[in-house]
Amino acid sequence: MGRTRGLAYLRDVGRRYARRLKAAIREGEGLRGVRRITRGGNVVAEVDLVAEGILEDTVRERGVPVILVTEDRGARKVGAGSPEYVLVADPLDGTTNFRRGIPFFGFSLALAKPTERPTLSDVFAGLVMDLCHDELFTGRRPRAGTGGHVAVPGKLVVSLYAYGARVDPRYFRLYPHLIVRGMGSLALEICYVARGRIDAVMDVRGIARAVDVAGAIPVLEEAGGVITDLDGKGLDAELDAVPRISFVAARSDAVRRRLMRLI
Ligand code: IPD
Ligand code: CA
Repeated sequence: MGRTRGLAYLRDVGRRYARRLKAAIREGEGLRGVRRITRGGNVVAEVDLVAEGILEDTVRERGVPVILVTEDRGARKVGAGSPEYVLVADPLDGTTNFRRGIPFFGFSLALAKPTERPTLSDVFAGLVMDLCHDELFTGRRPRAGTGGHVAVPGKLVVSLYAYGARVDPRYFRLYPHLIVRGMGSLALEICYVARGRIDAVMDVRGIARAVDVAGAIPVLEEAGGVITDLDGKGLDAELDAVPRISFVAARSDAVRRRLMRLI
């Protein structure tokens, strides 16, 4: 299957998965419970593991062989035959919001070419769904970034993720110059940048993972947005769930540069 049919496949998997996950959430007692705490102090909730299981079943039943990469179970082959895609998924993005009853969480899916060592630069299509508002974001990545000019009057509205021990204090200098948000689902917030609801998402903690951003990147870039590391270079982390990424996703390259000049 090629790049064009890839997005149709993603939409189909996304639709089936959303239906099953929503039913599980409606019926599920105890999904807000904690299964374990990772070494980095993150909570792995019951819902994360249930969601991974539902997604894997959905992908298997759909019948296209893929390498499935998820947050908790890592990479494995699902389906018979040689894999047509790498399917990178965050089965639930915004676990803390879900557990606390804050209605802003969803899931994200991305497709990449099945190369030997696939990275974020191999991702070509993405889908993010807001499960609380039934809003679907999809996109195909343009072959060359456009990074068009968007002029934003007044202060930039930015989701700034700068909490945690490893943050370089110079990023705190940004606060007086911005209208800061931080809503708890990186994938959805990057899609909000694509829609122009916020101007950028900046995560300087160094702990975001490829699974957190992969699905949203094609949505952002198709809309003319850009995503880079903090030095302005393209993201090419391996497609896994290792926490190591800092990034800035902006409505345009002009907005990204304006933000970086504030530091
Ligand atoms: C989290 C969300 C959140 C970000 C965390 C991620 P999860 O994803 O994207 O916005 O601050 O770093 O882990 O764990 O809820 O899928
Ligand atoms: Ca997750």
